[in-house]
Amino acid sequence: MEEGEVVHVPVLLHEVIGHLNPRPGIVLVDATVGDGGHALALLEDMGGEGCLIGLDRDKQALERARLRLRRFGEQVILYHANFSQLEEVLEDVPEESSAEGVNGFLFDLGVSSLQLGEAERGFSFRQPARLDMRMDTDRELDAWKVVNRYEERELARIIREYGEERWASRIARRIAIERKRAPIDTTDRLAEIIKDSIPAAARRTGGHPARRTFQALRLEVNGELRSLEEALPQTVQWLKKGGRIAVISYHSLEDRIVKRFFSEHGSFCRCSMDFAGCTCEAEETLRIVTRKPVTPSQDEITANPRARSAKLRVAEKR
Ligand SMILES: C[S@@+](CC[C@H](N)C(=O)[O-])C[C@H]1O[C@@H](n2cnc3c(N)ncnc32)[C@H](O)[C@@H]1O
Repeated sequence: MEEGEVVHVPVLLHEVIGHLNPRPGIVLVDATVGDGGHALALLEDMGGEGCLIGLDRDKQALERARLRLRRFGEQVILYHANFSQLEEVLEDVPEESSAEGVNGFLFDLGVSSLQLGEAERGFSFRQPARLDMRMDTDRELDAWKVVNRYEERELARIIREYGEERWASRIARRIAIERKRAPIDTTDRLAEIIKDSIPAAARRTGGHPARRTFQALRLEVNGELRSLEEALPQTVQWLKKGGRIAVISYHSLEDRIVKRFFSEHGSFCRCSMDFAGCTCEAEETLRIVTRKPVTPSQDEITANPRARSAKLRVAEKR
C-alpha cells in the first residue's frame, strides 16, 4: 500500500480468525474478498501451505486484492464472480486445490469503505455523482434505471422492504413527481428529494434521511438478498466435516437470511411435536456455533465506525 492510501479495515478480524482457525494446508473460500483484508490475515496464518479462493463481483476490488495478496503466489486463486455462482467457481478450481473440500467459507457482506469512498460509483448520498450503485459494472441495471424507470408502486415497495423506511410511499410519490419534470440523474438531487419528502419532525431522528432509501436502491440494483439466499445452500456440500461458514452482515434483512438458513440446517426435525413420525426427513447438517451473533467491541467501533452494525454468525458442518 502507498502511504496515505485508504484501506478498508476488515471488520471483526480477530473473531473471524478465531472461528475459521486458519492453519497450514487448509482450503478457505473468501466469497467477498474485497480489498483482501480478511484474506491477508487468514493467509498469514496458513504459513505458505493451503489455498485461499477469493471471489468478488467488483473488478476494481478484485484488482486491489490481487495486488495486496500477490506475495502468496499460487496459494491465492481469484475469481470475478457473484457468490451466487459459488458452485460453478468451485468446480472450476484445479482439483489439487479443493478436491478434499473446503475448511471454511467467509462472507463479509455489503460494500467496502473503498467502494463507498469512490464518489463516481454513486453508492454514497454524501458525495455528488451519477446514480449508479453497481458493484459489477458489467451489469445493466443501475440506480438511475430503478429511480427513473420503476413504477411508483414498485419503488415504494423496494424502499419499504429493503430500506425498512416508514415514509416509503411519500418518497416514491415525490420521486415520481420530480422525474416527470426532469430525470433524476445524481445522488445529491435524489438525497434532496428524499429529504423534502419526509416530515420535518421525522428528519431529526434516525440519521441522514436518505440513508435507508440508498440502502434499498443498492440492494435492488445488486440483487444482494437474492444472491445471499442462493449462495448459502451451495456452501454445505463443499464443506468438509468440521468446516465452518462465517457470515458478517450489516443489516437485519441479511442477518435474518443467515439466521434462518442456519436454523433450517441446524435442526433435526421440522415436524410438529405431536406428530407420531417424522415426515420431513430433515438431516441436521450444521451445528450453530454462535447462538447469538458476535458483535464488535466498543474499541473496534471507535476505531472503525463502519463496524457498528456488524453481526457475525458461524455454523459448522456436522
Ligand atoms: C465488506 S466488503 C469485503 C471486505 C473484505 N472482507 C476485506 O477485508 O477487505 C464486501 C465485498 O463483497 C463484494 N460483494 C458483495 N456482494 C457480492 C456478491 N454477491 N458476490 C461477490 N462479491 C460480492 C463487494 O463488491 C465488496 O468488495
